[in-house]
Amino acid sequence: MLLSFVQGLYIIAGVLFILSLAGLSKQTTARMGNIAGMVGMALALVATIIHSLSMSAEDPAHRQSVLVTGLLIAAVLAIGAVIGTPIARRVEMTQMPELIAAFHSFVGMAAVLVGFNSFAAPEGTGGAVHLVEVALGVLIGAYTFTGSVVAYLKLSAKMSSKPLTLPGRNLLNLAGIAVFFVLMAWFVAVAETNVGLGWVLVIAMALIGFALGFHMVAAIGGGDMPVVVSMLNSYSGWAAAAAGFMLGNNLLIITGSLVGSSGAILSYIMCKAMNRSFVSVILGGFGSEGGTIAVTSGEEQGEHREIDAATAADLLWNAKSVIITPGYGMAVAKAQYPVADLTSKLRAHGVDVRFGVHPVAGRLPGHMNVLLAEAHVPYDIVLEMDEINDDFAGTDVVLVIGANDTVNPAALDDPSSPIAGMPVLEVWKADNVIVFKRSMATGYAGVQNPLFFKENTQMLFGDAKERVEDIIKSLG
Ligand code: TAP
Repeated sequence: MLLSFVQGLYIIAGVLFILSLAGLSKQTTARMGNIAGMVGMALALVATIIHSLSMSAEDPAHRQSVLVTGLLIAAVLAIGAVIGTPIARRVEMTQMPELIAAFHSFVGMAAVLVGFNSFAAPEGTGGAVHLVEVALGVLIGAYTFTGSVVAYLKLSAKMSSKPLTLPGRNLLNLAGIAVFFVLMAWFVAVAETNVGLGWVLVIAMALIGFALGFHMVAAIGGGDMPVVVSMLNSYSGWAAAAAGFMLGNNLLIITGSLVGSSGAILSYIMCKAMNRSFVSVILGGFGSEGGTIAVTSGEEQGEHREIDAATAADLLWNAKSVIITPGYGMAVAKAQYPVADLTSKLRAHGVDVRFGVHPVAGRLPGHMNVLLAEAHVPYDIVLEMDEINDDFAGTDVVLVIGANDTVNPAALDDPSSPIAGMPVLEVWKADNVIVFKRSMATGYAGVQNPLFFKENTQMLFGDAKERVEDIIKSLG
């Protein structure tokens, strides 16, 4: 009876997670999606706690008493809340990717520990299928753990974003995977009769997973880290699904598969947006030509012109059409609020203002959309790169607010550029381009931007928020 109730709650939670993903796919329904996800997670927690307590009550000889189980769950929830709440409150939007990477590492480690625990479970090892689940769960979990730790270190600049390119790295990876399969076959054959050897093998498989995760993510260059974050998101989902199989928990299997497949789809979309091959990213060792290593192309390429806020305000006031292309610098400066204010003032004056958002602008998928929505910019004027790229040619003024790599013409013109082949917002086709940034420094990929030296481009130096506020003061 109680078990059916728990399974019922699991099904409702699973449906809510699916509704949550559906809601998150559009800005207008994203809030509803978040609420569905939160309610689903609350139900899942309640169901899991009821399930654990009922299992303790049924079989007190082998498990702790209900009270001890309850206290352990409460202690774990309290520790999570005490550590997680201040981190979530403190983290800046720009640090989200590294936080997400750090959290993925916990999912990976949890899958490894669940694997060890379910091998050590007092009920015995549970047959060949269960042993395969343990082996795969430990491998995927270990891979996700070290991969995510490396991604965290690279994204937070605690480790060089330069790709690690060991000689024969693909062969090394293949050898690691081959050895894993041999160990798994051995493990399945002997673990039930020789538990000691089983432990040696399961630990060896975890070590292979740790090494593969470290090596594959370390081999990816800084410029390709956006894809890595979403790939690790996907791996953490598969690690959770593997844990679900080991624990016989259907909800964990459903949730893990949802995260795993949505992460994989997002990675595919991002690969397409950056014109990268999905397979080569999965295999790692990709993006060696990206990253912050292109020192020579960081040099300036001619004269640039400057503009002041008052002149920029005149240009905007007299324009018919304006496109704003935001980037990472808008997030750093928290300029989205004055940008929204400037937009509504110009629109009230009759200027057609729209936004062009590059799929990898900022530091996480959808970064710019979230910031613009937060500042109440209407959704219908926020367009994706493919929707707006043909319109730059007829546009009077483009405001490039803290974007750099995503508006770099070298991606299209210069085959030797580290970002060659990446589709970009073709802002230089507009009559006037105003670039908001603090200096002539390069963007994330470390390459200089020929846009800054074009005849129709003018630089408006300084903090993006302050400069947009200056423009608002000078309007009209
Ligand atoms: P970036 O190329 O990173 O350039 C941002 C620019 O903002 C910099 O040139 C910087 O110049 C300027 N800036 C920084 N703080 C500023 C401030 N307070 N006021 C004004 N300007 C400021 O930006 P992007 O065009 O958005 O490109 C994103 C890059 O990040 C891509 O290379 C992408 O591959 C990578 N990436 C993306 C993601 C995702 S998923 N979106 C994740 C990881 C990495 P100054 O220093 O001169 O001010």
